[in-house]
Amino acid sequence: MPGRITFLLLALTLLLTACRAAIVEKHFNLTWVNANPDGLQERKVIGVNNAWPLPVLDVNKGDRLIVHVYNDLETTTSSIHWHGLFQNSTNEMDGPSMFTQCPIVPGESFTYDFTVDQSGTYWYHCHTDNCYPDGERQALVVHDSDAWFADQYKEEFAVTVSDWYHNMVEDITFLDLSKGQRRLPSTSSTMLTWIAALSPTGAEPIPDSFLFNDTINTKISVEPNTTYLLRIINTGAFVAQYFYIEDHNFTIVEVDGVFTEPEEASVLYVAVAQRYSVLFTTKESTARNYGLVTIADQVLLDGIPDTLVLNQTNWLQYNPSASFDAVNVTLNIVDENPGFDDYSLVPYDKEPLFENPTKVINLTISMGILDNGKPYAFFNDQTYTRPKVPSLYTALTAGEEATNEAVYGEYTNSFVLNHLEVVEVVLTNNDGGSHPFHYHGHNFQVVSRFPSYGEDFYSLSDDVSPSAFDPNNHTAFPTYPIRRDVVVVPPMGNVVLRFIADNPGVWAFHCHIDWHMRQGLAATFIEAPLEMQKRISVPDDHFAACKAAGISYEGNAAANTKDYLDLKGQNKPARPVPAGFEARGIVALVFSCIAALVGLAAIAW
Ligand SMILES: *[C@@H]1O[C@H](CO)[C@@H](O)[C@H](O)[C@H]1NC(C)=O
Ligand SMILES: *[C@@H]1O[C@H](CO)[C@@H](O)[C@H](O)[C@H]1NC(C)=O
Ligand SMILES: *[C@@H]1O[C@H](CO)[C@@H](O)[C@H](O)[C@H]1NC(C)=O
Ligand SMILES: *[C@@H]1O[C@H](CO)[C@@H](O)[C@H](O)[C@H]1NC(C)=O
Ligand SMILES: *[C@@H]1O[C@H](CO)[C@@H](O)[C@H](O)[C@H]1NC(C)=O
Ligand SMILES: *[C@@H]1O[C@H](CO)[C@@H](O)[C@H](O)[C@H]1NC(C)=O
Ligand SMILES: *[C@@H]1O[C@H](CO)[C@@H](O)[C@H](O)[C@H]1NC(C)=O
Ligand SMILES: *[C@@H]1O[C@H](CO)[C@@H](O)[C@H](O)[C@H]1NC(C)=O
Ligand SMILES: *[C@@H]1O[C@H](CO)[C@@H](O)[C@H](O)[C@H]1NC(C)=O
Repeated sequence: MPGRITFLLLALTLLLTACRAAIVEKHFNLTWVNANPDGLQERKVIGVNNAWPLPVLDVNKGDRLIVHVYNDLETTTSSIHWHGLFQNSTNEMDGPSMFTQCPIVPGESFTYDFTVDQSGTYWYHCHTDNCYPDGERQALVVHDSDAWFADQYKEEFAVTVSDWYHNMVEDITFLDLSKGQRRLPSTSSTMLTWIAALSPTGAEPIPDSFLFNDTINTKISVEPNTTYLLRIINTGAFVAQYFYIEDHNFTIVEVDGVFTEPEEASVLYVAVAQRYSVLFTTKESTARNYGLVTIADQVLLDGIPDTLVLNQTNWLQYNPSASFDAVNVTLNIVDENPGFDDYSLVPYDKEPLFENPTKVINLTISMGILDNGKPYAFFNDQTYTRPKVPSLYTALTAGEEATNEAVYGEYTNSFVLNHLEVVEVVLTNNDGGSHPFHYHGHNFQVVSRFPSYGEDFYSLSDDVSPSAFDPNNHTAFPTYPIRRDVVVVPPMGNVVLRFIADNPGVWAFHCHIDWHMRQGLAATFIEAPLEMQKRISVPDDHFAACKAAGISYEGNAAANTKDYLDLKGQNKPARPVPAGFEARGIVALVFSCIAALVGLAAIAW
């Protein structure tokens, strides 16, 4: 009898869950539209169904999300990554081109169809070459009435912060110098600064402005003495931003989809692709309005044009007839990182430290140039070069050989992980800039970071060699390490991450600075390939997308279907600079030539 009751209860629970879960179905016709979100310059952006900003996706935990994408962009390929969603057993829906699918070429359709079994703050964005800086990105919020803080606020807001560029990505792609020349002379500060402020290792393009929720001068209307939930998402391509609310502290309750123990904070450092949810309570008086302040992390920029406004004020509107003043920012962000240290957060579920890793992956980050004179980024001196077949399709067609790293190619930074093993990734940053690293398909535990946020964050920036993590001599790991899906690695420092390989699939691990991704700062983690072959099936329209793009969907990284160990014909990066040549010299030479051409072009104009 008790058994039957249990069964009935179970059936009822399942039924209720099924009833609550909805199907959210969308048609995304990707189209070019014009937009002028910063009020400075109208430009062409990638819209959905002839509108931009893109639709915010609001779903409930457990919902099935179906998005039919049609690429009507004529000249630009696309794809959509659902940032932070694990795609557990639906790896083929993850979105990054040449990892789990072919790019969607103009005129093609592609359906993403998966169940959302997480809650919290996410976003979606194009994941094919550099395409999301052209506007194809937006918030994706997964509501959960069971969140521990669900009854603690009256209303919620989701806002994005992002860098913004007046030029089309194709015109600021700094890897392709010939394209740069084609567009000269340009009046955009992006272009001029890019040419003017080149560093030996390739300066990233400088944004033209910074947006708050895809516009400027936003006013969020609030009532006095009320608690709200604010979700903040950095959908930018490059620049991290500090965030604070004038004269209001707040309580962090979520990072990157992971609920946290409540922690009071006053300033956040939100790197690209990171998310925070905070609760804040308004004041009792409506006498004045208060600034929502964002400050671009100028330390990342190689030059700051006079026209670039780094600090922006938007407002909590208590009183529409009170004034809206810009906040005078006085934080010291140049010598230190005053953001709340996410490493000190504790996940609400108190999942303990994953112990005794059986796989350790050491990755050293560096930037440099290859013998074509162009700037690249490297893991262990190897720049990621895309395979000829999306790595997922290699894993699915390689049979037993799928467990052999070789079949994924020599230049894809591929690592095969065993099902359910504890994996440790040790990232050592041999670069004087910080980098936000993202892993698809998982949250990772951040078990160590050196130096931490705060006054020491930049203390190693000028060192000639990085500070390596010493597995035999380090500070104690946290008992309940914070988990998230994007972590910032300090200049010349290191972080140590751990996760369990419990999600069979091909998952990209990469720097989320979109320019660095394009420069090859990426690795491919092939998780449990034999399990993948049992669980993952790819719908026909995904293969149709490959056919339309002229890309093979079986075979090894060289598209060889006969002998998976024969990599002849695989894509290769340019060669290292020959010994004896000073990298700096080559870059200086290439760029002085460009500068001369710019000069000539300017005179000819
Ligand atoms: C997409 O939008 C374009 C521009 O409005 C239109 O011409 C085209 O028919 C639409 N395609 C689909 C499949 O809806
Ligand atoms: C942010 O922008 C989205 C769409 O662009 C809009 O739906 C939403 O209401 C905005 N949020 C706030 C708080 O203004
Ligand atoms: C503000 O809210 C608190 C608790 O909800 C209440 O005790 C207090 O009286 C309120 N103050 C005003 C001015 O409404
Ligand atoms: C915010 O927290 C800081 C540090 O705890 C404190 O000094 C400050 O007074 C608080 N500000 C407000 C507005 O509560
Ligand atoms: C900000 O600084 C400017 C110039 O220093 C000053 O005129 C203005 O009153 C200040 N604003 C506030 C809100 O303090
Ligand atoms: C912007 O903020 C930075 C960092 O707090 C500050 O040093 C700088 O003076 C601010 N600039 C302006 C124009 O307010
Ligand atoms: C990773 O680096 C540590 C420390 O240098 C070293 O002991 C270990 O053997 C390395 N592991 C691998 C798999 O390279
Ligand atoms: C361990 O690391 C600390 C801090 O870097 C250092 O002072 C100490 O000498 C190291 N101990 C050993 C045995 O290497
Ligand atoms: C994926 O799902 C399996 C159960 O089917 C679960 O054990 C595992 O923890 C999940 N992994 C992730 C990353 O969601």
